[in-house]
Amino acid sequence: MKNATPFLYTANDLFDWLSGHPDFVLLDVRNDNDFTNFSVEGPTFFPYINIPYFNFMEDARGSIDLVPKGQKIRIVCAKEGSAKYVADLLCEHGFTDVGYLQQGIVSWGNALVPKKVSSDDEKYTLYQFVRPGKASCSYMLIYKDEAMVFDPSRNIEVYKAMAKQHGSKIIRSFETHRQADYISGSMQLSQEKGCKVLASKLDFTGATFPYEPVADGEICTFTKKGPEVKVLHTPGHTMGSSCYLVDNKYLLSGDTVFISTAGRPDLGGRWAEWARELYLSLMLRLRDLPDHIQVLPGHYTSWVEANDEHIFMENLGNLRKHVVAFRLANEKKFSEFVEENMRPQPSVYGEIRKVNIGFLQVAEEEADVMDLGKNECGASNYGKVGVSAGNERVDRRLAA
Ligand SMILES: [Fe+2]
Repeated sequence: MKNATPFLYTANDLFDWLSGHPDFVLLDVRNDNDFTNFSVEGPTFFPYINIPYFNFMEDARGSIDLVPKGQKIRIVCAKEGSAKYVADLLCEHGFTDVGYLQQGIVSWGNALVPKKVSSDDEKYTLYQFVRPGKASCSYMLIYKDEAMVFDPSRNIEVYKAMAKQHGSKIIRSFETHRQADYISGSMQLSQEKGCKVLASKLDFTGATFPYEPVADGEICTFTKKGPEVKVLHTPGHTMGSSCYLVDNKYLLSGDTVFISTAGRPDLGGRWAEWARELYLSLMLRLRDLPDHIQVLPGHYTSWVEANDEHIFMENLGNLRKHVVAFRLANEKKFSEFVEENMRPQPSVYGEIRKVNIGFLQVAEEEADVMDLGKNECGASNYGKVGVSAGNERVDRRLAA
């Protein structure tokens, strides 16, 4: 009988499968360290095994025997080539349904999945772009023939394609803050599409590219009116951190507050001072926003924070009730909470900050390496206070 031929699949295919009921085994053939440091996560759990490519080279038979027989196999590797090698090997040894990831784990790291957030009766369209490989979210607001993006990733082709699909031109690219965990796409978007970059002076002073500073309370609009975007200065995660309130309805909260925790105020090296600012941002500067405002965060910790449509969104009232950072009695308790949860930041964050202000330029391949890996931006993501100590939905889903 003729051997089956392995097929190529994309990172977005993989995400679609993981969003449903995956019926395959995911075989990661990267080395042990790379697998431990960064692996595929999706809305569902699925059988996921690691047998390094090297093992297949050294002991093909023994390694093949470790792959569950009679199963559909989807392979992930660093760049594509070794996954293809293993896929061919499995097909030669009787596996009949084998796929390998196009461009390897980097393509998973860069994949963006658009989710429509606004309802159909609104005159504008708001998308959340989930980046499963980074556990981060960027946004696009479209009104008639214009679009604004917020915290874009480097994979700007996806935003360009979405704007084109709507017959819109990207006119502005907002930054909620100078990111430390991923390379921003704003600079590239403004060079290619001529859009303006908007960001806080406190985070971007000295930037080597043109940007317009945003100020607390400022309102940005589209040419043909449409939804307003109001700037709210909410320092703490960084001193320039800003939230953007869209149409008095959606709060693009950057790294100020997430679904299950707040942002880390310790990344800038002055944690006590910044923790105080963050406390005041949460308790005072956001105080007048009504509970029904929908919070759309810059990151998530885990897929249990997503709603049934796999969108990361929660109303502010619910966050105020359930996120620990909102429920500490005073600034001292808040500061203790931050201190208890402090942990080192990945060493690459310093370099990424430099790239995002234009002080450092890196080749595409180096940027891919720097940009890979899950974010470390939440105050209690991996610290002593677990993710379950947060939102009602998170608790309910974890308990289920
Ligand atoms: Fe951040």
